[in-house]
Amino acid sequence: MHSLNSLTEQTQYYIDLEQKFGAHNYHPIPVVLNRGKGVFVWDVEDKKYYDFLSGYSAVNQGHCHPRIIAALTEQAQKLTLTSRAFHSSLLGEYEQMITSYFGYDKVLPMNTGVEAGETAIKLARRWGYKVKGIEANQAKIIFATGNFWGRTLAAISSSTDPSSYENFGPFMPGFELIAYNDLNALASALQDKNVAGFMFEPIQGEAGVVVPDEGYLKGVRDLCTQYNVLMIADEIQTGLARTGKMLACDHENVRPDMLILGKALSGGVLPISAVLADDEIMLTIQPGEHGSTYGGNPLACAVAMTALQVIKDEKMEDNAEAMGILFREEIKKLNSPFIELIRGKGLLNAIVMKHKNPDASWALCLSLKENGLLAKPTHGDKIRFAPPLIINRDQILEAVRIIEKSLATL
Ligand SMILES: Cc1ncc(COP(=O)(O)O)c(C=O)c1O
Repeated sequence: MHSLNSLTEQTQYYIDLEQKFGAHNYHPIPVVLNRGKGVFVWDVEDKKYYDFLSGYSAVNQGHCHPRIIAALTEQAQKLTLTSRAFHSSLLGEYEQMITSYFGYDKVLPMNTGVEAGETAIKLARRWGYKVKGIEANQAKIIFATGNFWGRTLAAISSSTDPSSYENFGPFMPGFELIAYNDLNALASALQDKNVAGFMFEPIQGEAGVVVPDEGYLKGVRDLCTQYNVLMIADEIQTGLARTGKMLACDHENVRPDMLILGKALSGGVLPISAVLADDEIMLTIQPGEHGSTYGGNPLACAVAMTALQVIKDEKMEDNAEAMGILFREEIKKLNSPFIELIRGKGLLNAIVMKHKNPDASWALCLSLKENGLLAKPTHGDKIRFAPPLIINRDQILEAVRIIEKSLATL
């Protein structure tokens, strides 16, 4: 097993720079990348790797997709930022496109995923006061245990992961937690008339690709309707064809009241996020009550329109579905004594290691790196495998051979 000590001088140089001058808020796999194309990335020694993380599912369309990069570079030479103090010739067109793409009245554009999550919560609270009639400052938002939606104070206030929230308090009031994948818990939480929304991931990504039971999404929809509570689906990681459908909610033909998108909305090019909802919700926020300097900027509009179009044109949902089935089958066939199970939908998958030993999953990721595939453990004993959605059959089979070879080194 290669340790940090066996890295080349060049690689070590870049890692040392980050260590010395950057905050220590990440623990990356020791590889230094400087180029990407499609499903591959290259390090500074020009070694080629399969990217099985895809920027936490931001690079669904593949690295440096030529059409997205063309849209980016063309728009970058024309106009990049107006702020929302003025109109731009692209914002309306983008808004029209994305709302008809997903079937909502309106969109509110933001930048990072966590900002879109914050926006959805503000909208839900507003709707709670103005439409549902919740008493001032009493609105509650329900979350599920194991959720992850980012790193702001609101996001960590709903987290059940001590490494996210410990020593960062005090926390945001008005948040409540229930068990994920538990419709009874949801039914009893929603009886409280002060609940404005239930915000959740249709598959929990960071928790280790936790797939709820079939019928959960439909059950959430029905309960939210029954209790007049907004169903808020965080599809930042599961959306945009990742799970084999355009949205993970499409697996159960369910339409959330609010849809949160990010990550692959730009194909890994810029931070672009969005909240989609109908007028009854969206128009509760009026001019001056919410915004962002960069939200909906012309560069983002051009990139997002192309990133969305490319997913449809290249039928990425179908490929994600087919390649996901192949990948899970091939991993099962390995019958590895180190793998407890493989789970996921489409190309959002994770293995759970048999011995709950975080060192084993880290060691496996280092070995995968040596053998030409990049992945990262999540929550100790789980490794997510989420390649770009353009991966083909031969590439899946080669990646599985790399995983097999790497398991053999444990
Ligand atoms: C489901 C989900 N929501 C929200 C976020 C936050 O997105 P960002 O890191 O762009 O703020 C993430 C990031 O991993 C996520 O997986």
